Amino acid sequence: MSQVPDCNNAVHPDPCIIVIFGASGDLTARKLMPSLFRMFRKNYLPEKVAILGCARTVLDDAEFRQAMRARCCAGQDNDEAWALFAEKLHYQPIEYDQEESYRHLKSAITKLQEKFSTGGNLLFDLAVPPLLYSQVGEMLGRSGLAAAATDTAWVRLVVEKPFGHSYESALELENNLHASFSEEQLFRIDHYLAKETVQNILTFRFANQIFEPIWNRTHIDWVGIISSETLGVEKRAGYYDDSGVLRDMFQNHMMQLLALTAMEPPASFKADAIQNEKVKVFTSVLPFSGAENNIVLGQYDSGSVNGEALAGYRDEDGVKADSRTPTFAFLKLDIDNWRWQGVPFYLISGKRLKEKCTRLVIRFKEAPLAMFKGQIGDHLSGNRLVLSVYPEESITLSIQAKIPGPRLCLRTGDLHFSYSQGYDDFVLDAYEKALLDCILGDRTLFWRQDGILATWKLVTPILEDCEGESCRIQQLHHYEAGSWGPQEILPTIREIVS
Ligand SMILES: NC(=O)c1ccc[n+]([C@@H]2O[C@H](COP(=O)([O-])OP(=O)(O)OC[C@H]3O[C@@H](n4cnc5c(N)ncnc54)[C@H](OP(=O)(O)O)[C@@H]3O)[C@@H](O)[C@H]2O)c1
Repeated sequence: MSQVPDCNNAVHPDPCIIVIFGASGDLTARKLMPSLFRMFRKNYLPEKVAILGCARTVLDDAEFRQAMRARCCAGQDNDEAWALFAEKLHYQPIEYDQEESYRHLKSAITKLQEKFSTGGNLLFDLAVPPLLYSQVGEMLGRSGLAAAATDTAWVRLVVEKPFGHSYESALELENNLHASFSEEQLFRIDHYLAKETVQNILTFRFANQIFEPIWNRTHIDWVGIISSETLGVEKRAGYYDDSGVLRDMFQNHMMQLLALTAMEPPASFKADAIQNEKVKVFTSVLPFSGAENNIVLGQYDSGSVNGEALAGYRDEDGVKADSRTPTFAFLKLDIDNWRWQGVPFYLISGKRLKEKCTRLVIRFKEAPLAMFKGQIGDHLSGNRLVLSVYPEESITLSIQAKIPGPRLCLRTGDLHFSYSQGYDDFVLDAYEKALLDCILGDRTLFWRQDGILATWKLVTPILEDCEGESCRIQQLHHYEAGSWGPQEILPTIREIVS
């Protein structure tokens, strides 16, 4: 492999204050703060930076630092680094709907700006339940905090998924946020997109001349995209039972994987050029027909993994005993454009499946058989290209080869590339990369408004079809926890995961 330049230190994030709403919550403790601490230790945070946690829970700076330390440093010996990082951490109690709270917030921000010389740059992160997004956005606008104080300063708002619950609610949320923030200020985070291997899908497709000419309906038979989990709903039953797999995985992550696989080459690697091509994919997907073989919904029953007994979905804490929420979905989508017409895209995602994996499988058409027909019969497996995001970060291309010996017999072998080849570890994990891009103002890996609305337009009719009482009962298949999903769809899943 040729020598690569040192790309890792070539970023210069602006000084800023990071304000986290919902700083007493799960996302802050599990993802945001540990990511910020790791970024600090790797020198990816600006030197002049302060982090201000806000929530209704009343804490002072010392208590906030203590709570965050327990989550960031558990079992690790990094006292020195933590002591330096903790100096940057502050806390301001807030009532999300009270104007007076935002006046206090503003003066806390002003003091931190002076103390840390951060200029007017502000990054607000909405780590609060979605029902508060519009309210906090509006209050930031009314208090004057949404507007940059100078021509050179910036103010950005990070929005965590879910971005709405349906097309109508997503549109309402977008309108509310846009009342105070411009599109350029909004960073709708999908940490999936920031995974190195997901970013690599575009590099693989467009930086390698050999694949692009065959990336179309002439050569490809079908495309499979799977994201499976072994976990059940864990502690998120309240959210999940109301959302189900279609909202939790398909409207966002699965649609992004679909877009990266199917999009046309963008004019440049810039955010808007990439988003334009993604939106074209979303708007080219044929509307959901409701045909039975285009959709399979499932819900897990009890089962076991590695000898451990697992409860069924309806027996999980916080799930309604008669819940009909799907925990598994298979969708067959058709993209009606020049490149993809007639190529089915199989999208599969579910909880409590046999293995945790995320992969794209491109199945090429069978080679013409004439010269082998006498020896091997009518079928020669088409080549399979597997872009694996998890557990292994790799690319595998299956090829046909001759078995050594006097007769012509074929076997399938693999050409394999692992992303860790030449690297011990990825420099930034997905959340760190997403946060860094927010500070850098790079929107390439974030959702744009038209993409959100286009995907909701696609998914909402499917939801309506599935959530109508009679339809849902009819379509919900039960599967054993720890299996690969409903029997009806096992052959297709096996083709994708084998
Ligand atoms: N947790 C994750 O792994 C994860 C992953 C992806 C996306 N997200 C999204 O990120 C956001 C934050 O998630 P989270 O898990 O951290 O949420 P959370 O723990 O349920 O809530 C965060 C904080 O918001 C405040 N809060 C909760 N319910 C409230 C209510 N009804 N009214 C007013 N304040 C309330 C609480 O703080 P105070 O009471 O102190 O104000 C709580 O500590 C959500 O939109 C979630 O969908 C989370």
